[in-house]
Amino acid sequence: MQYAIVTGDSRGLGEAVAKQLIEKNVNVIGVSRSENNTLKSHAEERQVEYHHVTCDLSNPSEMDAALDEIVQIAFTERTHYVYVVNNAGMVEPIETVGNLEADQTAKHIQLNLTAPILLTNRFIQEADKHDIQMAVINVTSGAAEKTIHGWSVYSSTKAAINRFTKTLALEQEGNGHVIIAYSPGVMDTDMQEEIRSSSEDAFRDVEKFKQMKEEGALRSPTEVAAVLLDLLNDPHDIDNGEVYKLYDLIEK
Ligand SMILES: NC(=O)c1ccc[n+]([C@@H]2O[C@H](COP(=O)([O-])OP(=O)(O)OC[C@H]3O[C@@H](n4cnc5c(N)ncnc54)[C@H](OP(=O)(O)O)[C@@H]3O)[C@@H](O)[C@H]2O)c1
Repeated sequence: MQYAIVTGDSRGLGEAVAKQLIEKNVNVIGVSRSENNTLKSHAEERQVEYHHVTCDLSNPSEMDAALDEIVQIAFTERTHYVYVVNNAGMVEPIETVGNLEADQTAKHIQLNLTAPILLTNRFIQEADKHDIQMAVINVTSGAAEKTIHGWSVYSSTKAAINRFTKTLALEQEGNGHVIIAYSPGVMDTDMQEEIRSSSEDAFRDVEKFKQMKEEGALRSPTEVAAVLLDLLNDPHDIDNGEVYKLYDLIEK
């Protein structure tokens, strides 16, 4: 049996990835604050398991219970493969340093960095215990490698997740797991709406993002998810620790 643990499956890229995995008969465990009834009925129609674990991943006190629930479902004697898609994320605070709000900054770091690290930490333990192969996909951003006015926190957590991915890949060499980061490019999701609603004082390039939307330059999460699934189709061609960028993959 195969399971996929997809964080942030209630909308955007996470929902699209979860839907396409269900279509490949992979059982899905979605983790987010709100449930996704569309995925639930999609799975029912295809007679695939869909579980939802409700968890605010920016709240450290909710993590342990959620991890136990996920592990109980996914890491069993009957499981042979587990996908872990660390996708849930936030872009706020979009603000210049000097104006950052402490609570929001701490939540951001917990959601975008600490949660994927601790989820992966537990799943690597469980995979070893049960002799299960895994594919760990950490969703990152081009912002990890760019300096963007107003995005100090987001760029930092995405840069850190890229480094985490490379370190994990090094440690797991020869164990057969797939370990990559995936940079999805600019997508038409709620996150982009939040970006466009920023003030120019907080984010100098906001007009550029409004223009991209007007020009139809944002990709659909469905298309972006399909490119990821294509990549995962042939694990032997994957370089562990690599940051795979949507734009490079579609040009190939
Ligand atoms: N959109 C882009 O242009 C773009 C570009 C580059 C990289 N990315 C990356 O792609 C990933 C997906 O982005 P997206 O655009 O699909 O975002 P989105 O539409 O804003 O969706 C975010 C997802 O994360 C979940 N989430 C947010 N806060 C959470 C919390 N505290 N606890 C648990 N789940 C939480 C949300 O579910 P709930 O609200 O139900 O909890 C939702 O399912 C992110 O890692 C993002 O950084 C996006």
